[in-house]
Amino acid sequence: MNILITAGPTHEAIDPVRFIGNRSSGKMGYAIAEAAIGQGHRVTLISGPVSLVPPARAETVRVTSAEDMLEAVRKHLPDCDTLIMVAAVSDWRPKQASPVKLKKSQMSEFLELERTPDILADVAPLKGERLYVGFAAETGDLRSEAHRKLKEKHLDCIVANDVSHPEWGMQSDYNKVILMSADGTEQALPVLPKPDVAQRIVEWIEAYRGVCTHGA
Ligand code: CTP
Repeated sequence: MNILITAGPTHEAIDPVRFIGNRSSGKMGYAIAEAAIGQGHRVTLISGPVSLVPPARAETVRVTSAEDMLEAVRKHLPDCDTLIMVAAVSDWRPKQASPVKLKKSQMSEFLELERTPDILADVAPLKGERLYVGFAAETGDLRSEAHRKLKEKHLDCIVANDVSHPEWGMQSDYNKVILMSADGTEQALPVLPKPDVAQRIVEWIEAYRGVCTHGA
């Protein structure tokens, strides 16, 4: 497969020293890239700002904001048959970024927020025969929220990611996920190191792709 993977957070600039972002470390996305390469797939990794070393055999594109990530996904998607959106894309950004550092007294009057582009929604019309896989990082009702996103975002599969516990999920070396497919199948994994979760995700996507291909 030719797999496009997004990873890490996005940073939305407020001024030259501040941004809106989130706690994503990029570990899960990078581990999936590593596992996919290990399985013999070609990987393009679009990475938000993280401090990880990308897999040597991935073509890596570094981006900062949701807008940059959207542009990179649009550019590389035509060469790929599978999109795995692991990135924790910031949903909001300042309406404008100040070119100079804001004084604290200016912050509240300056900070007006607007939505960032929804990358999966934007590239939905380009899906065709491609396999689209999303992530749903949730602290609440994991299964039903992930199911809602699977349907609303027209995904083939979604990784329901429990981020309610400090010992796994965001920033941790461990993760706890449920793999859910549009065909109704589900696989709940125990807490595992992220490289093991990544291996299971890649094998699950391969199996799903195999089923789709042979069933077509
Ligand atoms: N996603 C995206 N573009 C965005 C936000 C999210 O493509 N602007 C993708 C993520 O990479 C992930 C999936 O959509 O694969 C679900 O992201 P999540 O943040 O869990 O959901 P939201 O769309 O932000 O929905 P909600 O605010 O209801 O949780």
